[in-house]
Amino acid sequence: KKSQAWSALFSEPMSELVKRYTASVFFDKRLWKADIQGSLAHAEMLQAQGLISADDWAAIQKGMAQITAEIESGAFEWKLDLEDVHLNIEARLTQLVGDAGKRLHTGRSRNDQVATDVRLWLRGEVDEIGVLLGELQKALVDVAEQNADTILPGFTHLQVAQPVAFGHHLLAYVEMFARDAERMVDLRKRLNRLPLGSAALAGTSYPLDRERVARTLGFEAVCQNSLDGVSDRDFAIEFTAAASLLMVHISRLSEELILWMSQSFAFIDLADRFCTGSSIMPQKKNPDVPELARGKTGRVVGHLMGLITLMKGQPLAYNKDNQEDKEPLFDTVDTLKDTLRIFAEMAAGITVKPEAMERAAKKGYATATDLADYLVKKGLPFRDAHEVVAHAVKDAIALGVDLSELSLTQLQAYNPAIEQDVFEVLSLRGSLNARNTLGGTAPNQVRAQVARHRARLA
Ligand code: ARG
Repeated sequence: KKSQAWSALFSEPMSELVKRYTASVFFDKRLWKADIQGSLAHAEMLQAQGLISADDWAAIQKGMAQITAEIESGAFEWKLDLEDVHLNIEARLTQLVGDAGKRLHTGRSRNDQVATDVRLWLRGEVDEIGVLLGELQKALVDVAEQNADTILPGFTHLQVAQPVAFGHHLLAYVEMFARDAERMVDLRKRLNRLPLGSAALAGTSYPLDRERVARTLGFEAVCQNSLDGVSDRDFAIEFTAAASLLMVHISRLSEELILWMSQSFAFIDLADRFCTGSSIMPQKKNPDVPELARGKTGRVVGHLMGLITLMKGQPLAYNKDNQEDKEPLFDTVDTLKDTLRIFAEMAAGITVKPEAMERAAKKGYATATDLADYLVKKGLPFRDAHEVVAHAVKDAIALGVDLSELSLTQLQAYNPAIEQDVFEVLSLRGSLNARNTLGGTAPNQVRAQVARHRARLA
């Protein structure tokens, strides 16, 4: 009895070791829905072209409906002997409906079949990821709105630089995630092309209507070269590249959440349900979720490296190497979806500690630039103003006070042009309000951005 789809030519059965080594069914069965969807579109077209009968088409539909029910209920028996998802489903179809099942593969190869399945499946996931990215952005916009005038020390080199609104800081991440969503939309265009009809590599002698199949499956175009159609995995690399960048953004945000929650900063608290304790230190509350997300970034970047290396050096057209495209894609999608979901929820549960943020901003002479700008407005060249203020900061450090705590007389010793209105300039709030250019941190600018994001995300 023959167990393989091709075994008539072979004089001995496949080695058990090789069977296990080459089989993919235990992971690619995840593509079953796309596989059935693709087969139905192909069969419908075969029937429309007169390549199979209406009866065959009806039988295939009936068989696929039963297979769907079996897989959904868990009754479907996946067989390692049948190698992959495609052969498992086709074999069961033939078992159920006989010759009609055997006619399904007319004008088709597993090479164009698998390329179609992966694209179909990934398209659905890309759309879901787009939605989840929207949810995360909305959650961050909410927290940003509540903190449009919460003062946070802005850092460069992790040294206190200038005050920024905490909301402004969060909206920087919204910009990153908006670009990530844009990248998903962009790569979807190239992903959404139909390989079916490429057959094994050269196209087929049957009069297939590829445009019809593309329409049925919602593909925007058909692959225009059969060799490329079966062997292109650019779409998978583009996706993992976009996913890597997304995870890099998640990782940077994670790093900040972890820093902010540490006792030395104490700027925020994460809800207990997102933290874990220690089995030895009773006082501990650890930000495991952002830490793990930062760690999982490495794994997604690894998948990008894996896929790009997988393609390097492959001659045209299909090679079995391509079977290795699936696990990295599956794991990337799983990691992204879980991470995005958990971050949207976690963002909503952030407790902000404005006093600690303000204290830290004050301690770092965050308004020193404002004093220099003030002197420029009084007629000093900026370089001179910079030096004058550096002296003032040096003295204030020695005295252990903030610039705003120096008296007017003390300040005037640095430059006689300094007047009473300097104290508004030296205040954190004054500094924040002053940065009122488009994209700046002034609270009304932050509110304008919140409104723009809300309209965009609605
Ligand atoms: N499981 C295979 C894959 O994932 C399907 C295509 C196999 N084609 C072949 N000619 N061996 O790539």
